[in-house]
Amino acid sequence: MTSLRKSLPVGPLAFMLAVLMTLAFITVIATTVSAQALGNAVKNSAQPQVTFAKDVVPVLQTKCQECHHTGGMAPMSLVTYEETRPWARAMKQRVETRIMPPWHLDKTVGIQRFQNDLSLSEEQIATIVRWVDEGAPLGNPKDLPPVKQWPNEDGWQLAKQFGAPDLVIDSGSYTMPAHGQDVWWKPLSDVPITEPRWVRAVEIKPATPAGRRIMHHVLARLQQDEPDLRKALFTGNDADSNGPGMLMEWAIGKKYDIYRPDTGKLLMPGAHIWWELHLHSVGEEITDHAQLAIYLYPKGQEPKYRTYLMSYTANPTINGQLQLDIPPNTVKETEGFHVLKHPAILQNFQPHMHLRGKAMAMEAILPDGSTQMLSFVDHFNFNWMTNYIYADDAAPVLPAGTVLHITAWHDNTVNNPNNPDPSQWVGWGERTVDEMSHAWVNVTFITDEDYQSYVAKQKSKQLASAAPTR
Ligand code: HEC
Repeated sequence: MTSLRKSLPVGPLAFMLAVLMTLAFITVIATTVSAQALGNAVKNSAQPQVTFAKDVVPVLQTKCQECHHTGGMAPMSLVTYEETRPWARAMKQRVETRIMPPWHLDKTVGIQRFQNDLSLSEEQIATIVRWVDEGAPLGNPKDLPPVKQWPNEDGWQLAKQFGAPDLVIDSGSYTMPAHGQDVWWKPLSDVPITEPRWVRAVEIKPATPAGRRIMHHVLARLQQDEPDLRKALFTGNDADSNGPGMLMEWAIGKKYDIYRPDTGKLLMPGAHIWWELHLHSVGEEITDHAQLAIYLYPKGQEPKYRTYLMSYTANPTINGQLQLDIPPNTVKETEGFHVLKHPAILQNFQPHMHLRGKAMAMEAILPDGSTQMLSFVDHFNFNWMTNYIYADDAAPVLPAGTVLHITAWHDNTVNNPNNPDPSQWVGWGERTVDEMSHAWVNVTFITDEDYQSYVAKQKSKQLASAAPTR
C-alpha cells in the first residue's frame, strides 16, 4: 500500500484540489456576503416584497384560520394584521419545523392525496418565512381579500345536509381546573338503540364555546362485542387484539366524517361509545362535555359495505399480551405484521402512540412479494392525534393475502421534547406515561369480484393514458 501511494503523484494533485476547494469556498462566502450586504434592497428589486395583505392572508385563510379564528379551537386568531403580527416569529418557527399546521406526514413517500390535507406547500412555507424575514409588513390594505366568514360553530355542521342528527351522545361533564396538567379523560356512554342500525355520518363537538378552549382533541370509539365476526374476518392477533370489543370511531381537527357512498358502520344494541378527551387548563376553571352526533341510514336501507376500525399493532404479542420494551435513553423500533383475509380498501392511517412516539410507517407487502410504502408519519406528535384520510381515488385497494407491515419508533431520549423522563424504562400500557403503538385504520372489505373489477378498471385507465395522442 505505502509503495503504491508513493508512486502516485498524490502531492501535487491534493494541492491542486485544495486550491480549487479554497477558491470555491471563497466564492461561496463572497456571494453570501454580497447578498447580505446588499440586503433587502436587492431582494425587493428582484422579487416584489411579500406582504400580509397580498401574499400571507390567502395562506392563512386556506390553511390556518379554520382553527385560528376568534372562538375557534386554537389559542389565538390569525385573521387581522393586528392579531397576526405579534405571532410572526412563532409562525415562522412552527411552519419551518412543520409542527403547524398539524400535518406530520413525510411528504416524499407514500400516498399523498387526502380528504383532509392541512399541510402547506413548500411555496407557502417560503412565503411565510420570507414575510417574517422581511419584517412582516402589512403592504397595501387595498390588496386585502375579503375577510373569510367562519360558520357559527354552535350548531351541527352536517345539519344543512342531513337535518337534525338521529342520535346525540353525550360524554358527561368534566371540570377542568384553572391550572394543572393535561388530562386524558376516558368516560363510557351508552348508545340508545334497540335494533342494529347503519351509520352514514358522524360529527363531534364540544357542547359550549368555552369547552372548545379546553378540548385539544376528542376521540369517540365504538365498543361492541362481535367475537364470531372477528374470527371470520381477521387473522391471528387481529382477531383479538382490540381489547373487549370492536372499536370503530374517531375524530379530531376534522369536525365530521361522511362515509363513502354505499358504505357505513353498523351499530349493535348494547354498544358503547368509549371517549378520549384530551383537556388542558387555560387559566380559568371550565366545565364542559363533548357531544357526538350520529346520522343513520334510513331504516331498511343497507349500504353494501361495512367499514371496521382496525387497530394494527406494531407490538408483538405473547399469550395475548402486547409486548413493548423501551430501555432508558434509547430510540426503539418495533414491527407488526397483519394479513388481510379478504380484498380490502384502506380508508385512512392514524398512528397512535403516547409521549415517546416518534414515527410510524404502514407498508403493504403484496402477494407477489413486492412492497409498497402506503404512509409514513415521520414526526409524530402526541398532542395531535391527526387522522390522515385518503382521497377517494387514492385509498389503497389491496388483494387478499396482502400483509400490512407496521413499523413504529419510540424516542425515549432527551431529544424528544414530550419525554417526561428519559431515564425511565417504559413498557406497554394504557396510561399516558406507558407506551403502545398501533395504526387505527378504517378497513372496508370487498368481494373478490369487486376486487377483480377494480383491477380491470385500473388496467384500462393505464392503457388509456399510455395510448398515443395526436
Ligand atoms: C387543526 C387546527 C389548527 C390549524 C389548521 C392550525 N393550527 Fe396553529 N395551533 C392550533 C392549536 C390548537 C394550537 C395550540 C396548541 C398547540 O400548540 O398544539 C396552535 C398553536 C400554534 C402556534 C403556537 C402558539 C403559541 O402559543 O406559541 C402557532 C405559531 C401556530 N399555531 C400557527 C399556525 C399557522 C401559521 C397555521 C397555518 C399555516 C396553523 N397554526 C394552523 C391549531 C391549529
